[in-house]
Amino acid sequence: MEIKKVGVVGCGLMGSGIVEVCARAGYDVVVREVNDELLQKGLERVKKSMSKGVQRGKLSREDMDAAWQRIQGTTTLADMADCDLVIEAAVEKMEVKKAIFAELDSIVPPHAILASNTSSLCVTEMASVTKRSDKVLGIHFFNPVPVMPLIEFVRTILTSDETMDIARKFGASLGKTMVTAKDTPGFIVNRLLIPYLLDAVRIYEAGLASKEDIDTAIHLGLSHPIGPLALLDFVGLDTCLFIADAMYEEFKDPRYAAPPLLRRMVLAGHLGRKSGKGFYDYT
Ligand code: 3HC
Repeated sequence: MEIKKVGVVGCGLMGSGIVEVCARAGYDVVVREVNDELLQKGLERVKKSMSKGVQRGKLSREDMDAAWQRIQGTTTLADMADCDLVIEAAVEKMEVKKAIFAELDSIVPPHAILASNTSSLCVTEMASVTKRSDKVLGIHFFNPVPVMPLIEFVRTILTSDETMDIARKFGASLGKTMVTAKDTPGFIVNRLLIPYLLDAVRIYEAGLASKEDIDTAIHLGLSHPIGPLALLDFVGLDTCLFIADAMYEEFKDPRYAAPPLLRRMVLAGHLGRKSGKGFYDYT
């Protein structure tokens, strides 16, 4: 089976990045948002990111225009009827994801693969609402999608070898390096990243060092591009809290228990870059 057309459900931060890399790799892409306003906002984000790619010399103006022509926006999943692969990047709520998977299962052709970009939820549970669980896997991208070179595949106990082979060809066509993990909360990257980020909040909360010194220590001492508190702001404090809670729920391991400060910052609306304020001020 050759993938020609890709569906993306959700055009938020991750969905728009996935749309961009697929269109730039030559795929026809149809992206669904829940309403016109969110769709236009998401498509603007795609355009802005591609323009940045042109400015940075990563793609030509002609290639950007051609990629843009390959993208179709919609507010109905029915427009995914001729997709060979659909990647769901909707909100991290299992009930929403299961509803999307069940609906897609009745819309897409029998050969089509259904994937989720979930960062921590159970892919097997999403597969369970379809009649094609052998064709369901996780395809986890990293933010910013056009820049980060990794894809983490999540293989459930039901995902077939054929599905994995097609997914690997697809990942390679996007120019990404791929790793494969079992369907356990956090997979590889977030299983390691989340306890590290939570520990950074804990030591800041305990007054061990200033936020600037914590970030500088990791940036310069370990050569990470940014420190953990800046990374929390970048990923979104609410997203990190959500992943931590999902992992704690499954493992009941205190390593994944969110520190009080993180939960209170989220309650206060200090979500990081997206809200203008997190550990740092972006206004
Ligand atoms: N298309 C193609 N390339 C682009 C681009 C675009 N739209 N935008 C930027 N680039 C390129 C730039 O040209 C540059 O390439 P070069 O090194 O070859 O010159 C490179 O990307 C870096 O771009 P910038 O100079 O604009 O940005 P910075 O140097 O400020 O770095 C950053 C920004 C890449 C985001 C860096 O701060 C970083 O790596 N941060 C950490 C990001 C991270 O850890 N992400 C993972 C989060 S966890 C996650 O997503 C999982 C989820 O489940 C929680």
